[in-house]
Order: sequence, then structure tokens, then C-alpha cells
Amino acid sequence: MTSIGGITIRTATEQDWPKIVVLNEICFVTPQTEEFTAHWRQLVSGEPPVIALDGDEIVGATMDIPMTVTVPGGGSVAAAGVTAVTVAPTHRRRGILRALYTEHHARIRASGVPLSILTASEGGIYGRFGYGPATVESTVSVDRRFAVPHPKAPDPGGVRMVHPAETRPAFTDVYHRWQQVTPGAQVRPEIVWNRIFADRESERGGGTALFGMVHDDGYVLYRRASGDNGSFARVEEIRTVTGNAHAALWRAMLGLDLVRRIEAHLTPEDPLPYLLTDGRLVRTSSRHDELWVRIMDVPAALEARTFRGDLDVVVQVDDGFLDAGGTFALTVRDGKAVCTRTDAAPQVVLDLDVLGSLYLGAHRARTFAAANRLWAADADVLDRFEHAFGSDRDAQMGWGF
Ligand SMILES: CC(C)(COP(=O)(O)OP(=O)(O)OC[C@H]1O[C@@H](n2cnc3c(N)ncnc32)[C@H](O)[C@@H]1OP(=O)(O)O)[C@@H](O)C(=O)NCCC(=O)NCCS
Repeated sequence: MTSIGGITIRTATEQDWPKIVVLNEICFVTPQTEEFTAHWRQLVSGEPPVIALDGDEIVGATMDIPMTVTVPGGGSVAAAGVTAVTVAPTHRRRGILRALYTEHHARIRASGVPLSILTASEGGIYGRFGYGPATVESTVSVDRRFAVPHPKAPDPGGVRMVHPAETRPAFTDVYHRWQQVTPGAQVRPEIVWNRIFADRESERGGGTALFGMVHDDGYVLYRRASGDNGSFARVEEIRTVTGNAHAALWRAMLGLDLVRRIEAHLTPEDPLPYLLTDGRLVRTSSRHDELWVRIMDVPAALEARTFRGDLDVVVQVDDGFLDAGGTFALTVRDGKAVCTRTDAAPQVVLDLDVLGSLYLGAHRARTFAAANRLWAADADVLDRFEHAFGSDRDAQMGWGF
């Protein structure tokens, strides 16, 4: 237990949960059903939340979900999925989040997990705590009425229309294979699948029940919805392990004659525009961050992933929040890294949040260098550093939390 300015920070007990739920409802301005609360509590199955109290009143909370995340090269890393971070509107901007995070991250560090991850309600909060946006997602809209497959686009077929809840293994098996090769994707617990297949009306965002199409190496879950410009199909999730599955499922989606457009969230490098004679029909309406990464243990995290090129570089990582930073000798041979502390002069200097952004391969070192957020001794070091940190597969968050 700690105390700052009359606010007590301590671990929650079973009796605190009802008040934590009320605080969440108020802070996220969203009433929570009993079912949802039970679902959430099952996910937060490790350590209890950390809470802030003003007298008897709970005025802040933070907690995490134990997760496993894929990193470039297909390795798996344990991560704390920090979630439901709340401070009461009556108690904001007096350091309660910082106090909660200090306690919570001390706990995460003690648990030994190399990564902490989260999704951010606002982009300006978490950089100071060493988190960097690490996956990028584009929201796209395809006017399918004019979409013509490119003559060279594969036409492998093999797509079946299914009732999602009755064909569960077709989805869970593909997700498992996709997750194992996709940087940033987390193992999806059964209880999260249960919620998806339960497909409650309250979670449909005004759309119809879920429709599903499956392929041996992919699937799509979508709904029909209506907006200002008529009816459209909203892709809730498309996961493909092979290019053929991707092409086959998109061909099938583009065959939905009675909807004008299809809306989906894709990685910026998704090949969908190249499958069409007119790639402009895939219009991007937003580009945003999804998963944020804070590296808790630099050597463990870097040695868990593979790299695309050999490297011999001394990297100085500055952690303004905790003590995960330092100067590290990073040597890569045949993709595998060895990372050790050193006293040598750095050739690359960056903050921990920038390293978090580079970690899954979704951002480029030179872009941070151009913004003066990464320093490299010369252009050659920058080139090799950037190339090595790339990933052959686009990073993508597996499921939101
Ligand atoms: C976001 C929230 C948790 C912040 O809590 P808080 O107790 O007011 O934050 P603190 O006073 O401890 O601020 C910590 C630091 O973050 C900064 N900060 C806090 N909220 C911020 C915001 N919305 N945008 C930018 N910076 C912010 C503060 O300036 C402070 O900076 P410093 O310590 O470097 O000087 C709180 O406003 C909240 O519950 N919001 C609604 C729910 C939500 O968005 N939760 C986050 C889910 S990802």
C-alpha cells in the first residue's frame, strides 16, 4: 500500500469489484451488463486490479489480462495486457494515473514478462510511460459495384458460406494458425470466442447478426448495416493465412450484389487494392494505431524476435518512467539476436516508446529519425537498423481489450 496526497494506492479485494465496475461505467460512459462484467473478470484472471482510494471511495483503477503475443519470426512472448484504466472525473490531473501505473508496472516488472501492451483511448497519454503505437490499421471502404478483379488476381475458389456459431472450429483453427505467424496477434482465449459467437444484439453496433464465410486457410465475419449512403457490409474480422485465402474471400465478399460497399479494417500493406483493376475503389478513411507496446525487458524482448539482417550496433534506450533503459550491444546473426548491457558509445539513441513502436516491424526507424526521435551515428547505421527491425508479415492486433 502507498499513499500520495491523501490518495491510497492498494491491491483490490473481492469486495472492491462492484465499485470498480461503477467507476468503469462512469469513465467510459458505457453501462456494463452483468454478462460483460463477468466476462471481463474472467479475462483479468491473474493479479487483482490496482486501485486508488480517496477515503472509502474508489477513484481510480488499472488491471491487466495475462496474454501471449506473437513477435516477428513467429516466436511467442508473455505480455501484460493493461486494460480498464480509469480515474474518476472528480479526481483527474492530480497524478492518480501516474501513481497507479507506477505501482502496476512495478508488479508487471516483478512478474518477469518482457512486454506490457494496451490500446489507447487517446494518443497523448501513454508515450510518457514508455508505450509506443506498434500496429497500424486502416479503415477502408470498397465501392463493390464497380470492383472488377484484376486479370492476374488469383481465383482459387474454395469459399463456403456458414453459420458462424455452428462452424466454430473453422474459425478458431484458422485464427490459431494466423495468430502464430502474425506479429502483434495475441492468443485468443475461449471466453473471447464465446462472446463472439454469442453475437449479442447489444454488441452488433446496429448491424444484423453475423454472417460467415470460410476457406481452408481463412475466414471472414461480417454484418450488414445501413448508413447515409445506403446499405453496406461491415467486415468485423478477416483473417487469412495464405494469399489464396485472401483473394478467394475478397472475391466472395465483392460478390455481395445487394450492398453498395464493404467496410473493413486492414493493415496498410493489405494487397486488396492490387486484386482490382481499379485500386482507387479501396478508399482509406482513416489510419490509426491499435496495439501499443512497452518493452519491460529490452534484452528478453529483442532476443525473442528475429531480425531481417545481420547487425552489430550499440543502442541507447532511454526510459523516462522506470529503469528498463540502458545501453545495449545488439548483435544479430542469421536472424537471431544477442543483446547485452555495455559501456560502449551508442550508435543509435532512442526513447523506450520508439523502440516499442519499432518492435513489431510496423514503423520505420528513418521516420522517427526524421522527427528527431531517433538518432543514428550515420546513414549506414540507420539503414541497417531499419532493415533489421522490419518484418516479413504485417503486424496486427489479434483482438481488442
Ligand atoms: C486518462 C485518465 C486515466 C488520466 O488519469 P489522471 O489521473 O487524470 O492522469 P494523471 O494526472 O496521473 O496524469 C499522468 C500524466 O498523463 C498526462 N495525461 C493524463 N491524461 C491525459 C490526456 N487525456 N491527454 C494527454 N495527457 C494526459 C498528464 O498530463 C500527466 O503527465 P505528467 O505526469 O507527465 O505530468 C483519466 O482521464 C480517465 O479515466 N479518462 C477516461 C477513461 C480513459 O480514457 N482511460 C484510458 C483508457 S486507455
